[in-house]
Amino acid sequence: MSSKAVITGCGAYLPETILTNTDLAKKVDTSDEWIRERTGIRQRHIAGEDEKTSDLAVEAAKAALKAAGRSPDDIDMIIVATTTPDLTFPSTAAIVQAKLGAAAGAAFDIQAVCTGFIYALSTAEKFLAAGQHKRALVIGAETFSRILDWTDRTTCVLFGDGAGAFVLEAKDEADADGRGYINSYLRCDGRLVDLLYVDGGVSSTQTAGHVRMQGNKVFREAVTRISQAMEWVAADAGIDVRSIDWFVPHQANERIIKGVVKKLDLAENQVINTIGGQGNTSAASIPLAYCQGVADGRIKPGDLVLLEGMGGGLTWGAALLRA
Ligand code: ACO
Repeated sequence: MSSKAVITGCGAYLPETILTNTDLAKKVDTSDEWIRERTGIRQRHIAGEDEKTSDLAVEAAKAALKAAGRSPDDIDMIIVATTTPDLTFPSTAAIVQAKLGAAAGAAFDIQAVCTGFIYALSTAEKFLAAGQHKRALVIGAETFSRILDWTDRTTCVLFGDGAGAFVLEAKDEADADGRGYINSYLRCDGRLVDLLYVDGGVSSTQTAGHVRMQGNKVFREAVTRISQAMEWVAADAGIDVRSIDWFVPHQANERIIKGVVKKLDLAENQVINTIGGQGNTSAASIPLAYCQGVADGRIKPGDLVLLEGMGGGLTWGAALLRA
């Protein structure tokens, strides 16, 4: 019998400390007005000194497990999408597994920067569809503040920290009530690495490095590639992209989101937008936005939801599901 991968719970976690645009304007030559106008961002959350990516991930995972009515023992796969792991090894997923006390099954990280959650969700679904695993925790978690150059106004104003998680369960199609993952589209063009990267790494500098970005060039690539990915998943599923209930984009820049909405003729009120209060939380931004939509009652079981991401690599992709 064929099965569907259904999101049975989602959870979010944002660190307590908030850094506003006005706070940032005291550190670098910028202004609240510039940041809001160019990006839509008002503030971002910053992890505490003792808070690691795994701590954020664990809080989001606990909330997702609670929403799903599951305990850590029920989970047989943990995937963490992150660019800011606690350690070079083991994976942050292994650390999360230990902190949750979920000792069964597999745990590994996925690195596709801001597209990481789409890659992770798609990967988890393949294991569930193959019958190899039954219940996965799919987490996007970042302490992106740790790889920012706080003297570079072109990047440090954009990012924030946070984590979001899904419990994804294999269900027989008959029990899924039409809910579940439908399809995804994943892409990477490594020739565009210079547009967005970190200038350090274990085998090159033995440091973590700092984010470097040619923002306007990334911007120019974004709307076309994101729209193409969204149109592909919609066409593959045999639907008109405008028939989706909710568009849950990676929260990189409000202008990119508006550009996609315009290009695909979507409605502004179909968008779950969290960028103002959170900034770009990289791999965490998609599940954080999805959870916001669920928490405030907009996303309901059975709704058709389209997720998209784009980030360093360049990587980009989209995923279609019924909530
Ligand atoms: N405050 C004030 N002025 C600034 C700031 C700032 N924080 N940052 C840049 N400027 C200045 C620039 O120096 C430049 O000044 P100049 O004209 O005197 O040279 C001017 O503003 C315009 O700079 P642009 O880079 O052309 O500004 P743009 O309108 O493109 O906005 C931004 C910059 C917000 C970064 C935008 O390009 C963007 O969002 N790009 C995409 C980012 C993205 O999607 N990243 C991918 C995901 S992230 C990931 O994968 C990790």
